[in-house]
Amino acid sequence: MDRCPSKTIRIVLVGFGNLGRSLAQMLLEKENHLKNLSFNIVVTGIIDIDYTIIDETEQGLNLQEMLSLKNTELLNRSVNLSFEEVLQQVPFDILVELTPSTPNGDPGLSHIEKAFQNKRHVVTSNKSPLVLKYHELMDLARQNGCEFRFESTVGGVIPLFTTVQSGLAANEILKIEGILNGTTNYILTRLSEGSTYPQALNEVKKLGFCETNPTDDISGLDAARKLVIIANVLLGTHLTLTEIKTHGIEAISQAQILEAHLNNQVIKHIASLEVANNGIQASVEPKSINLSNPLAHVNGIMNAIHIFTKYSGEITLFGIGAGPKEVATILISEIISIGTKL
Ligand SMILES: NC(=O)c1ccc[n+]([C@@H]2O[C@H](COP(=O)([O-])OP(=O)(O)OC[C@H]3O[C@@H](n4cnc5c(N)ncnc54)[C@H](OP(=O)(O)O)[C@@H]3O)[C@@H](O)[C@H]2O)c1
Repeated sequence: MDRCPSKTIRIVLVGFGNLGRSLAQMLLEKENHLKNLSFNIVVTGIIDIDYTIIDETEQGLNLQEMLSLKNTELLNRSVNLSFEEVLQQVPFDILVELTPSTPNGDPGLSHIEKAFQNKRHVVTSNKSPLVLKYHELMDLARQNGCEFRFESTVGGVIPLFTTVQSGLAANEILKIEGILNGTTNYILTRLSEGSTYPQALNEVKKLGFCETNPTDDISGLDAARKLVIIANVLLGTHLTLTEIKTHGIEAISQAQILEAHLNNQVIKHIASLEVANNGIQASVEPKSINLSNPLAHVNGIMNAIHIFTKYSGEITLFGIGAGPKEVATILISEIISIGTKL
């Protein structure tokens, strides 16, 4: 049987770090799979902090080559174009924004705003633009007829937004509880198995699942950022970080963990959102939870999200909390999903 001709989707990558490189690698690995789905994803530009490389061949950049080049070689290939000039001069459909999350949202925030103003769709893993300006960015996307996808900003590989916005569209969310940070969950798991805090922290650093400086994870800030995104995307709130009661896991002792075990409980770092009469109650804090709670059995770097709905009872989603390769597959799914509408 003849296969339909492939649809070409052109993307520009901004941020060629762990995730950008994993995405390039996965595009190479998945080339045949994508062909079977009748898609051909080509990268027409790569922008990192020190270089901008654009496709001069109309075939897309050679990703194998891009991945093999040293930084100095990438610098040598760089063209003298600003981000705005790339938007105006390079042909592409989707901006894939993978720069670091920062307190003021930039550079990701301005990249995303400019992409929409130039009628480009956006896929991102960068939390900070969503934490600061989710509603404004959605409005800008709509005004310009653009798609905005950000599934990998929360819950690692868990397809939370797709599940709720599509599969639960007619339902009502009453409460969401989650384990949203793999680092703190790993540390609490290892503490309950008898490790010391420094041992557990060292292990999770070696696994490469946390930042060199994991303060944002340990203090609960990373989970709080994800909770802001969940609330504003799924519950339509205008929640900000300061409204979330946030406590880290630094003060958790072996004695507290033991006491929880004696009561058939376990201590987990729980992010919680509850729709109350007087608004939204939001917190990120270590809590002793009963073993009957599905979150009690989520260990190591796993994440989980437990959704309490009005009409369908409780639904729990589990998945690996981070990992560039895993996240890259989500990005590709989002690119394809936008591609079907092009
Ligand atoms: N890795 C994961 O598993 C994962 C999972 C979920 C979400 N995320 C989010 O995804 C984003 C990317 O993560 P990552 O792990 O790939 O981070 P990363 O390894 O630090 O990569 C980010 C890249 O962006 C570059 N960059 C910095 N400022 C830039 C600018 N103004 N213009 C263009 N490029 C710039 C960085 O260059 P320098 O290094 O030279 O500064 C670096 O190469 C982050 O926001 C992260 O929070 C990552």
